Amino acid sequence: MPPDSHRNEPRRFRARQCVGEGGCGLRFPVDDGSPLGASCPHCGLPTSFVDDAYPSHEAPRGDAVPRHAARLGALLDNIRSLRNVGSMFRTADGVGLELVVLGGVTPTPAHPGFAKTALGAESSVPWRGDADALRAASQCVQDGWELWALEGGPRARNLFAADVLDAAKDRAIMLVVGHEVSGVDPRILALCREVLYLPMVGVKGSLNVSVAFGVAAYALSCRVA
Ligand SMILES: C[S@@+](CC[C@H](N)C(=O)[O-])C[C@H]1O[C@@H](n2cnc3c(N)ncnc32)[C@H](O)[C@@H]1O
Repeated sequence: MPPDSHRNEPRRFRARQCVGEGGCGLRFPVDDGSPLGASCPHCGLPTSFVDDAYPSHEAPRGDAVPRHAARLGALLDNIRSLRNVGSMFRTADGVGLELVVLGGVTPTPAHPGFAKTALGAESSVPWRGDADALRAASQCVQDGWELWALEGGPRARNLFAADVLDAAKDRAIMLVVGHEVSGVDPRILALCREVLYLPMVGVKGSLNVSVAFGVAAYALSCRVA
């Protein structure tokens, strides 16, 4: 089992701090009882344990939380980074997605490095791959899914608008996210019932795709109780 797989006994940690003569003050956690961190990772001076050991808690299970969309899946259109896909598998596991469709170059759990980033979620999340993400999108529509893309552009509506969240209620939604640079293929966007954006207030025009996916997957799946 991976070290942070669900429902393990809580791991215990303890703070070390670089507090000796001339120390830089860095305070950081190490596993309780671990010899690691005896030298400060910043300045190399000796560190000391400070304060008591503490458990690192997992989030409570959410089985009793009312669902918002009746069914939720995801289509990953040509996501090139293994880290992003692993992170999205972890989100898919956490949210309880029914299906993840991996289109085009998106790495699948068959990739030798996949488990390192998905940390066990690769065995709990149902998935299928298709070399052609457009064909996969059409198949999802034929299977009764509504495609809802996360993307900017002229059709995009704010995901947090009340009518958008209302419209998600009790639907079968396949959330579509796109390539880290080029975004969702326009031919796939044309098949989408909704195109939704997450508002950006800083200098950047988009979020990391796995972060955007996490925000949207939770917003669409958990009803405010
Ligand atoms: C990094 S973005 C692609 C680049 C983006 N088209 C741009 O010009 O900045 C990768 C994917 O993340 C999702 N995404 C990232 N930020 C988003 C946002 N603020 N609203 C909606 N989708 C977003 C979309 O699915 C998008 O296709």
